[in-house]
Amino acid sequence: MSIHISAKPGEIAKGILLPGDPKRAEYIAGNYLGGAVCFNRVRGMLGFTGDYKGKKVSVMGTGMGIPSISIYATELMKDYGVENLIRVGTCGGVQDNFGIGDILVGQGACCNSDFNNHVFPGTYCPLADFNLLRGAWLKAKQKGLTAHFGNIMSGDMFYREEDFRDSRWKEYGVLGGEMEAAALYTLAKKYGARALAMVTVSDVKVGGRNMTADEREQSLGNMIGLALDTLIEFI
Ligand code: HPA
Repeated sequence: MSIHISAKPGEIAKGILLPGDPKRAEYIAGNYLGGAVCFNRVRGMLGFTGDYKGKKVSVMGTGMGIPSISIYATELMKDYGVENLIRVGTCGGVQDNFGIGDILVGQGACCNSDFNNHVFPGTYCPLADFNLLRGAWLKAKQKGLTAHFGNIMSGDMFYREEDFRDSRWKEYGVLGGEMEAAALYTLAKKYGARALAMVTVSDVKVGGRNMTADEREQSLGNMIGLALDTLIEFI
């Protein structure tokens, strides 16, 4: 047991998917994993372990934002020995050519949170694990999915004053805005684990609309399949 996770040793797999929403973790466990067993209910942050294509895989919610994911990612790596972590979330598309449902994969994660400033005297550059990144790229090609690889932006505010889609972040090539990847990448390096964040575009400025329920289900399904098929090559 760790402070925020009640699993017993061995109940969490070496590879885990990390959606922000614990109910999405339950959905993934119920729809993609065979024989899924719940290992955590502390604070409603549901976590499950089951079977995917013959491999033991876990999935757990992280909550929203850097402080929340940093607690769960730390405990998963430090206290439960998790070695491969893939965040599966949603994001705001920053570049004009993205459509609702496109998958963005964070090669690097910019950040306007103070998280890394608490750790480093200079500007740390949080990067995805190269092998997971490459694996996701190959799988996306095989599956014919629209996936963009590059910088994403982990912001501290969802309701922010500055619109990333009309900002320096856009000018300098950032693909999408979300709220967790930078801390996940930094912590994975600390604990010698592999991490990757992939996010589905759930809102865009051009056209100015949000995902419909059907689009959400379809495109999240594409991303979850991509994440699981990438993950099992490493466990
Ligand atoms: N910002 C941060 N997180 C998000 C966004 C956004 O615009 N859209 C979906 N998740």
